[in-house]
Amino acid sequence: MNYFSFKDGVLHVDNISVLEIEKKCATPVYIYSELCLSNNYKALEEALENKLGKSHPKLIAYSVKANSNVAVINVLKKINSGADVVSSGELKRVIKAGITGENIVFSGVGKTKDELFFALDADVMQFNIESISELEMLSEIASFKNKKAPIAFRINPDIDAGGHEKISTGGSSTKFGIPYKQAINAYEYAKTLPGIKVVGIDIHIGSQITDLEPFKLAFNKVLLLYKELIKNGHNIINLDLGGGIGVSYDENTKPFLISEYADLIKEKFGSLDCKLIFEPGRYITANAGILLTKVIRKKESYNNSFVIVDAAMNDILRPALYDAHHEVISVLEMKKGKEVTDYQVVGPICETGDIINRKARLSNIKDGDLLAIKFAGAYGAVMSSYYNSRDLVPEIMISNNKINVIRKRILIEDFISYENIPE
Ligand code: LLP
Repeated sequence: MNYFSFKDGVLHVDNISVLEIEKKCATPVYIYSELCLSNNYKALEEALENKLGKSHPKLIAYSVKANSNVAVINVLKKINSGADVVSSGELKRVIKAGITGENIVFSGVGKTKDELFFALDADVMQFNIESISELEMLSEIASFKNKKAPIAFRINPDIDAGGHEKISTGGSSTKFGIPYKQAINAYEYAKTLPGIKVVGIDIHIGSQITDLEPFKLAFNKVLLLYKELIKNGHNIINLDLGGGIGVSYDENTKPFLISEYADLIKEKFGSLDCKLIFEPGRYITANAGILLTKVIRKKESYNNSFVIVDAAMNDILRPALYDAHHEVISVLEMKKGKEVTDYQVVGPICETGDIINRKARLSNIKDGDLLAIKFAGAYGAVMSSYYNSRDLVPEIMISNNKINVIRKRILIEDFISYENIPE
């Protein structure tokens, strides 16, 4: 099903024309389809249930960092999603969206004392521990509170998951997790600490993974460790398999099918009665959002045809930060056979790297035209800023063919009001 499609020559989100949205909300603006979000979640759930059986204990803990708007989280909560959070800020968001502790895992490499306090009060189902000193801090706080904190260690398996260097997390040179070889000792030590209850193993090797091979290698290591820990008398009831499922940002990227991922899960873990936890972010949200932008003006310089739009790297950082590809299309359907030009779509920010798409094939662009930046639902609005003193980009969600403003445009005047000139 296509949630962003042309009807009568105009791009629609579900059944709403983007022209109507622009009239109401101006640009730049993120637009999400609730239907697409929930269907993505259901596709993963169904694939897992088809392979594992409906009754196999599992939790899809949506990784909130991909898109943390409370309305987006709430869409997923309504269809029973849990949440994976990495800060007390994200924890506050998921609580506001209605998700409760028994469906929340707390990940993150640098949890502070305050955050551990807060998460203990929220009774999260699992702390994914990334170092011994974090474990000791949690033990102290939990003992003080007369609680037992349920923990899993995040294991760093030293596996290169491919993808962009900046989003690969499973290698030995990254800050994430504890080295695989130290895991057995870490679990033995955790057993001796007050206020700690060992419940699981956690792994997350990277993001935008399109090949199953690194998952296979990582899952094998989880399985080996699981068997060893059970032998040593640990009560491992949760296996948190992380996120990382890749999506197709362009036609050359062909990620594995979700049914193939589910096959692998079944092959490796189907016979265990552990609860399987998944932390998908991008898979749920990437294709569920576009960033709508308006052409400010065209500009020819040397041999370049630039289209300067009103969205910029502060609104969508992925192209500048990771050289990520986001297709840019006109919201008016391109007629077949019409002449096309390769444009560089750029933002107005004073940085050479403020390029949204180096080679967008568009026909006959005019000032004031509307363009859609596709696959912008994951790591888009969450990574936006007010750099160059621009307003913070708003977010809209289409639900049941209604336009809902889920984050209003935060004006630069609002930000300035927090600043102060000392007397
Ligand atoms: N779990 C943990 C512990 C994570 O660190 C992440 C992502 C996820 C789950 C969700 O991964 P996903 O299913 O979305 O691949 N800003 C980058 C992506 C950074 C991912 C960080 N961790 C981007 O725009 O590509």
